Amino acid sequence: MPDPHALTGIGSLVTNDPSLGDGPLGVIRDAAVLIEGDRIAWVGPARELDASVAAIDLESRAVIPGFVDSHAHLVFAGDRSMEFAARMTGESYLAGGIRTTVAATRAASDDALRARTRDLVDELARSGVTTFETKSGYGLTVADEARSLRIAREFTDETTYLGAHIVPEGIDADAYVDLVCGAMLDACLESARWIDVFCDRGAFDVDQAREILTSGMARGLLPRIHANQLQHGGGVQLAVELDAASADHCTYLDDADIDALAGSMTVATLLPGAEFSTRSPYPAARRLIDAGASVALATDCNPGSSYTTSMPLMVALAVREMRMSPDEALWSATAGGARALRRTDIGVITPGARADLVSLDAPDHVHLAYRPGVDLIDRVWVSGHLRLTRKQQ
Ligand code: NIG
Ligand code: FE
Repeated sequence: MPDPHALTGIGSLVTNDPSLGDGPLGVIRDAAVLIEGDRIAWVGPARELDASVAAIDLESRAVIPGFVDSHAHLVFAGDRSMEFAARMTGESYLAGGIRTTVAATRAASDDALRARTRDLVDELARSGVTTFETKSGYGLTVADEARSLRIAREFTDETTYLGAHIVPEGIDADAYVDLVCGAMLDACLESARWIDVFCDRGAFDVDQAREILTSGMARGLLPRIHANQLQHGGGVQLAVELDAASADHCTYLDDADIDALAGSMTVATLLPGAEFSTRSPYPAARRLIDAGASVALATDCNPGSSYTTSMPLMVALAVREMRMSPDEALWSATAGGARALRRTDIGVITPGARADLVSLDAPDHVHLAYRPGVDLIDRVWVSGHLRLTRKQQ
């Protein structure tokens, strides 16, 4: 398309800026968007668009900001469908399953890992994701963690060093924490923006997590944390103490955790795919939102606890199972994810923002939850370029 160009005939446009339209999502009906280069130049009623600008007519479809998947584990090899099948017949989810994926990942070639990651990145695009975070955590040696992050960096700038996913076999916990804070950190630094730790039963305790996160922060990485997924613990409080961008999972929270999150800049990133696939109780989204905490929704795509790339599924689960309103779920899957990555250039359709948009085969975004399991993604634009259209799928 020529530059600038416009999208017009938008039945319902979610801007996520209440000053631009109706309600908390700033919805504009019969809207148009002007794109210049990789940015949004203007949004408003279609009748106010300069008629001489080249335009794509979206024929009354809804347009939303591209989904921001702020939590995924995309670099891995192997398959754990048998573990899933066992869970569905009564086994419970254990952190130790991670070791199966670690063995397969170490044995995979760079090309095999890269190809698998690319497939998942393409799946994310088909689900309307325009920005995603991804982690290491299935290598757990200096060389394998550094390799995972180098491959991750080929696909996104939002890369997270998760050497502290679990203590691998053959090394004691103290020695492993030293490695994660020392030589492994040195090797991973250049390909990572974030540092993360799985602070939970069967993984790392709060003191170990604090040591790991502060070591990374001292070298310029930003903290985020897997917290309170398998049981109640101090992970959420640690996230707030360290001003982590996000506390992820938040499945087991007490009132003090909710108050702490509400009084902080730390986003509660909820991952309902993990509760769905491990048959666990869903997190208390309503209590978090009502207390004033920021909530994000993400896929947690990984081979163990949530093997899905579908952000529309997360929206549907959040609405149906967690009692979030459709507006709240849409915000959390877009602007909420951006906040969990401390980004202001994505998750909104406002002048100056990156031109990341999704058109839906639906008249409004409510259909994402109203029509669960139905692929409604029509077209996806990333940085002003059409990343995919329905015809290519
Ligand atoms: O976010 N909680 C830790 N890590 C992943 C699961 C990893 C796995 O089971 O392979 C998660 O759920
Ligand atoms: Fe995770």
